[in-house]
Formats: sequence, C-alpha cells, structure tokens
Amino acid sequence: MSKNYNIALIGGDGTGPEVAREGVKVLQAAAAKFGFKLQFESYDFGAERYLRTGETLPDSAVEEMKKYQSIFLGAIGHPDVKPGILELGILLKMRFALDQYINLRPVRLFPGVETPLKGKGPDEIDFVVIRENSGGIYTGMGGATRVGTTEEIASQLMVYDRRTVDRCLRYSFELKRRRNATNAKYAAKPITLVHKRNVLTHCGDLWFRAFEEMGAREFPELKRDYNHVDAANMWFVKNPEWFDVVVTENLFGDIITDLGAMIQGGLGVAAGGNINPSGISMFEPMGGSAPKYTGLNVINPIAAIGAAGMMLDTLGERTAAAAVEKAIWATTPKMKSQAAGKMGFSTTEVGDLVAAAL
Ligand code: IPM
Ligand code: MN
Repeated sequence: MSKNYNIALIGGDGTGPEVAREGVKVLQAAAAKFGFKLQFESYDFGAERYLRTGETLPDSAVEEMKKYQSIFLGAIGHPDVKPGILELGILLKMRFALDQYINLRPVRLFPGVETPLKGKGPDEIDFVVIRENSGGIYTGMGGATRVGTTEEIASQLMVYDRRTVDRCLRYSFELKRRRNATNAKYAAKPITLVHKRNVLTHCGDLWFRAFEEMGAREFPELKRDYNHVDAANMWFVKNPEWFDVVVTENLFGDIITDLGAMIQGGLGVAAGGNINPSGISMFEPMGGSAPKYTGLNVINPIAAIGAAGMMLDTLGERTAAAAVEKAIWATTPKMKSQAAGKMGFSTTEVGDLVAAAL
C-alpha cells in the first residue's frame, strides 16, 4: 500500500501563495514518481485574515494542525500590519505550540547561482546550520519597568535548560553522522558548536559541556569543533568550506542563518524547516512575503521548492527528497539570476522546470 500524507498548506501573504504553489507542484510530481500520495488542506492564516478578523492563529487551529503529518508555509507579513504581530502570533506561536525545537537551515550554493563570496563555488558552500528553535532569548522571559521615563529599564533573558540543549545537540550529532555516511567530504569535517562562551559564561558553558559530554560518550567517531559566534561570522565569509554541521542557540542561529542565506545566493534560494523530530514540522522559504512582487509571477520559487524537498526528507521520503534536490541542481544553471523579475523565467516556469527535471 502506498503512503498517504496529509499536509496543512498555509500560503500566507504577498508572494507566499505563489511560491507555495510551485512547491506543491514539485511535491505532487515527486509523489507521482515515487509512489506516495500527498493531500493538501489550505488555511488562510496571515495578514488578510488578521486585518479582517483580528485573529492570528487561534488555539483551535494549533490543535487542528496536529491532524497533519506536516505544514507547508509560503510567507507571512504585510506592510499594513505592525511588525511583531504576525511573527509572534503565527510563526513563533506555531513553533512553540508544536515544539518545533530544531530550525534546520541548509546553506548550499546551487550551481549557476551567484554568491557574493569571491572564489567560492558549490564545493565550498555546502553546510547546514541547526538553530535551537525553542529557548534562549526567544523564551520571552524578562520585563520592563519605568517605561517611558528616563529611568526605563528593560531585560530579556537568555534561558536554557539541559534538556533543551541536549535534545538539540542529539539531533545535530545524528544529522552529522548521517551526512558523514553519505560523503567523504563531509566526514572529513567536524561538527561545530557556535556560542559565545568567553562572555556568556553560564549559557555558553552549559552548551559547551553538554556538547563535549554527548559527543565523547555517544558520538565518539565525530570530530568536534567550537567557534565563538563573532568568529564564526568571519569564517562563514572567508572559509565557508570549513563547515559541515553547525549547531547553535536560538538568537545566534537567527543571525548567522541570514548570513548563510546571503552566501548561498540570497533569500530566493534559502529554505528552512522548523522541525519537531517526533511531531509536526513546518517548512518554509526564508524569503518573506515580498509585497511589491505580489501577483506578478516573477518571484523565485526555488526556496519554496527546496523547503518542499526538506519536508519530504523529514517525512522519511528520502529518495524523493534527494531527487527534488537533484532537480533543483538541474534547474538553477538554466536561470539567468535568482532575483525576482530577473530569472529569465516566470515563477510558474521555474516550478515547471524543476518538476520536469524530476
Ligand atoms: C526567522 C525569522 C523569525 C525569527 C521572526 C520572523 C520571528 O527571522 O525565522 O529567522 O526571528 O525566528
Ligand atoms: Mn531570522
């Protein structure tokens, strides 16, 4: 019997629905080819619904998401909605409520894609960042007092507990083991912990000890390395080929993954997953809703298609996921650019090219 996956589809705002459509197109092509079924159910969460009803993501919707094997998201964000409302109300709420504690961000330069890094190509830019996605400063602890006066004080705390650190590290070590088995190039490189333990002596120390202990005890064959986050920034730019699997805490991960997106050719190609390894994960292109390109059929869907591939991988359809990645590899060299409106193709044509390459 072939497998059947039920997927919640949140097209979202701006160009979100346009890129999501191409992701779905490629997913359906993969399903047909590899003998499984995908059923999509659409949800209208996003700015329009918020502006109409005042609702972001109701609790009942979070419950409803639990019926699905995965969530596929286009983009969230609208110029008429104050920053923070949709981010907190939809994206972060989903991450926390479904305990998507891994943020997986491949930083991979596809062939034919331009990187701002001189002299670096697909061989050098090929790593993955695991950002802890549930704790740290995103926990929301802290507060403000005397607000609006000259004595105003505000605090926002970086909070970590051992369980939260350990589960993120375990996922990272396991991914590193899996990658090493596929490619000698990866196997030659270490897994890198990124933090700032020279200054953040409590949180940094917790992460570092947990990393060393778990690595030595459970993954002794894996080489381990450590970088301070400021230094990691420099090395991402100067020597991206040093990296394979990079694991870091939430806020540092937020920052370094945007740097990663730029060195892999920009937001048009950068895909991400918010993963609960034993629950419901959510996959999205990193590009945002790009309001000015809405409805023009010019936005780049490669990131959404990449996110679709990541979803297949997490669902356990690894052969299909690898085929999607290969189809992207076959498509990017045909494109003139990865920038919206300059691809030499429309959004739908790029989706067609990837589906055909499958
Ligand atoms: C990201 C985004 C989010 C984050 C925002 C939109 C809440 O920047 O997914 O990286 O900070 O995590
Ligand atoms: Mn971010």
